[in-house]
Amino acid sequence: MRKIVSQVIVILSFLIVGCQSSSKQKLLFVAENIEFAKTQEKLQVDAIEKSGKILNPRTVADGKVKYISPEDWTSGFYPGTMWYMYELTGDSTWRTYARKYTQAIDSVKYLTWHHDVGFMIQCSFGNGLRLGEQAYKDVIIQAAKSLSTRFHPVAGITQSWNVDKGWQSQRGWECPVIIDNMMNLELLFNATKLSGDSSFYKIAVSHADQTIKNHYRANYSCYHVVDYSLKDGSVRNRHTAQGYAHESSWARGQAWGIYGFTVCYRETHNPKYLEQAQKAFEFVVHNKNFPADFVPYWDFDAPKIPNEPRDASAAAIMASALYELSTFDNGEYYKGWADKIMASLASPPYRAKVGENGNFLLMHSVGSIPHGAEIDVPLNYADYYFLEALLRKNQLEKKIN
Ligand code: GLY
Repeated sequence: MRKIVSQVIVILSFLIVGCQSSSKQKLLFVAENIEFAKTQEKLQVDAIEKSGKILNPRTVADGKVKYISPEDWTSGFYPGTMWYMYELTGDSTWRTYARKYTQAIDSVKYLTWHHDVGFMIQCSFGNGLRLGEQAYKDVIIQAAKSLSTRFHPVAGITQSWNVDKGWQSQRGWECPVIIDNMMNLELLFNATKLSGDSSFYKIAVSHADQTIKNHYRANYSCYHVVDYSLKDGSVRNRHTAQGYAHESSWARGQAWGIYGFTVCYRETHNPKYLEQAQKAFEFVVHNKNFPADFVPYWDFDAPKIPNEPRDASAAAIMASALYELSTFDNGEYYKGWADKIMASLASPPYRAKVGENGNFLLMHSVGSIPHGAEIDVPLNYADYYFLEALLRKNQLEKKIN
């Protein structure tokens, strides 16, 4: 009997020590990545401040950091990165920068010529409001009004791109909607909560429902572009713009879908959105081309896999979504996947060395291969979702331990 008791004590001690060292490892992972981000982001912001201008970094081109105007679809990510740096470190210096760079894109609230106002305002002003900037409330509501001007009741969706100029005018589309647009719905949900006007919520739900119906294939992969008829709302075409082929599965599109439906479930509690996010992730996880390091090739059907560029941005978006998904159902499973993706992104093949990579955090993302744009580069949205995922991981692990 005494022997059994002492064996049980030995086993329990191993388990306790094992658990302690694994929670210590988790805390160390987060702390080390926060330290890295502090150093790298400080270099980025110091270079901007030194210029005496308010600049908004997007990527690196020809060896130089490329800065963008407030109207660029990615303009909310850098201010959002500053908010996450504040939240991760508690250092008010980041908050001062966050306010300054957020204020610099205030005019975006009136933008009506593309759908990305949701991304732009939610990542910047949305995070600021969440962290206590009450004055940002009106910006969110105005931006939601601007986005709502793109809603077409006959098709039940908000139009993504205009088709009167640029390369979009060459494709024969009438009303293109891209899967990315799922990411703009969070702004609409928030605007209803802030204003009490349910019309924004209704637009978001209608858009999400049409996306399930028309963007997704039977295997839960999604098309990039669905073109609707403005006359009767029918689907005219199912195409790609940034993927390999119309029938292929563009990696970032799959990630936008998983993230977008996770948000829809959070905001509505409708289980069909949870199921959509979960099944869309199962498509990724069971795909024969999902690589062993969990950072997708730019398209799951790219013809020269494994000799194709990776897209770290798709991995970061997915990791962040999976942390949130883990709070709803099957927590260990989704958090486990998110942790594996994060470990890979934070390892030397993907995480930049301090002072390199234009002072962006992650290497090896892809903007649009069909357009010959931003291939195997850092991107501000890869960094934004990496930090968001780190924050979510930290919050989850603090709760667990
Ligand atoms: N929303 C544009 C992109 O994902 O490239």
